[in-house]
Amino acid sequence: MSTSTYNDANPVWLEVPLPEFPALNSDIKVDVAIVGGGLTGLTAGYMLANEGVRVAIIERGRLASADTGHTTAHLTYVTDYRLHQLVSHFGKEGATAFWRAGAKAIDTIESIAARNKKANKTDCEFRRVPGYLHNSLRANAKGELERLHQDCDLANELGFAATWIDDVPRINTFGIQFHHQAKFHPRKYLKGLVDAICARGGQIFENTNYEETEQSPLALRANGKRIKCDYVMIATHNPLMGAKGVIGASLLQTKLALYSSYVLGARLPINTLPEALFWDTGDPYDYLRVDNHADHQYAIFGGDDVKTGQETDTAQVFEKLRARFMAMFPQAQITHRWMGQVVETDDGLPFIGENAPRQFVATGFCGNGFTLGTLAAEMARDSFLQRDHEYADLLRTDRKPFHGGIWRYITENVDFPTHLVGDRMKKTELHLEDLKNGEGGIVELQGKKVAAYRSADGELQLCSATCTHLGCLVKWNNVDNTWDCPCHGSRFKPDGTVFSGPAEKPLERLAQLDKPASLRSESQSTATRHY
Ligand code: FES
Repeated sequence: MSTSTYNDANPVWLEVPLPEFPALNSDIKVDVAIVGGGLTGLTAGYMLANEGVRVAIIERGRLASADTGHTTAHLTYVTDYRLHQLVSHFGKEGATAFWRAGAKAIDTIESIAARNKKANKTDCEFRRVPGYLHNSLRANAKGELERLHQDCDLANELGFAATWIDDVPRINTFGIQFHHQAKFHPRKYLKGLVDAICARGGQIFENTNYEETEQSPLALRANGKRIKCDYVMIATHNPLMGAKGVIGASLLQTKLALYSSYVLGARLPINTLPEALFWDTGDPYDYLRVDNHADHQYAIFGGDDVKTGQETDTAQVFEKLRARFMAMFPQAQITHRWMGQVVETDDGLPFIGENAPRQFVATGFCGNGFTLGTLAAEMARDSFLQRDHEYADLLRTDRKPFHGGIWRYITENVDFPTHLVGDRMKKTELHLEDLKNGEGGIVELQGKKVAAYRSADGELQLCSATCTHLGCLVKWNNVDNTWDCPCHGSRFKPDGTVFSGPAEKPLERLAQLDKPASLRSESQSTATRHY
């Protein structure tokens, strides 16, 4: 099966609709303004509204359609950083606290799901399932048996129920079973939150673009309107600058590394696998989630994470992922594929807390976006209400990195100067007239790198290829049809509008070059080889 035969190149979750909301079109006043309508922002809005706080949530596009919509929806306290690594970096106390925070967040999601099921009759399919961390089938890393045993022993010592398994079901290799993990349908869950926010007087605005934060009095500008507020929460996956200022915001952003993950959704015959979560110990690692349905199982399989914007042929990566999955489950029928984005941090812990006066930020969830997003929402609520929170110190945004974190900071940030300078020196190979309908690519026109996209009906759209964050050159993603930046992971739609930050401004439209005829003659005279 080639990738072109997939029925849908969107996440399977998007088949469940969410209510639509208007764009902000007048000035308003609330207690807390939340930027970002994904799981973190909506959960914060829900928790604050439950306390009688007046909230407004603004979302650039549609609710839960960007990063939250592209999730794989694992609910687990098992972190990307292995337990023995956490213990060596943060001690047993720190590692226990971090895992316990994840476990509590799952409990919180479970209780919210139960409450909303009772109130709204919406079942988000929350289920407790085991999670298996098992040896990689791709590369049998030396010493993995010992490290997994070490993790299993540590988990039990620190109070997390784990069992050693010699033969993980259907995977046929050794690993650990972590009890009491969970899964749910994210958009069904969020539907319950949205209904509850509205019922408590919370306001939600879609297609509303954040512009800037004003101080004294505090207000957000969005869609040319003003939201006066006493407190701001930035819940945008990769944080906006907000009130932090360019230098402070950039410093936080350089502690983050954005990775794109490749995901397949497939139907399997019933009883192919246990209903569970699976992750292997590879780097990058593979993951699998299995749901039981009446007449089939649905599997979500993914991996092959690579830094956003650094893969030149995303379609090819999907082909390899598909081949690996079909080799394991030849009877699978692949129905969907999508790409998610994971924000890693220099030390493996998220950044959650105030990073400017009356501005709360939450980012760096390291692949555990739903558990840590829920935790962040709770911490934002408590911060606004001036309550202490037990994890505030561990996760604060200005914490000092440990020695390994500094090394990771350096290695992750080598990309920035490398791409900033190196990509400009590269010759390009694509000519404008080579672009087929629905394709994009970097061309060179009048000595400038230009992001060129030809729409399905043949219209040519041209933007500067210079990322509006800190000036690297974007690359075309031929699966998601986005312009992705290899430096800090900003993503732009084909017409240059922002899909996800840290960039806050669209790619510059090259309006004077919008006429295909004149462009063709220019391209023929000036275009050189493209990469
Ligand atoms: Fe930082 Fe593009 S995301 S330069």
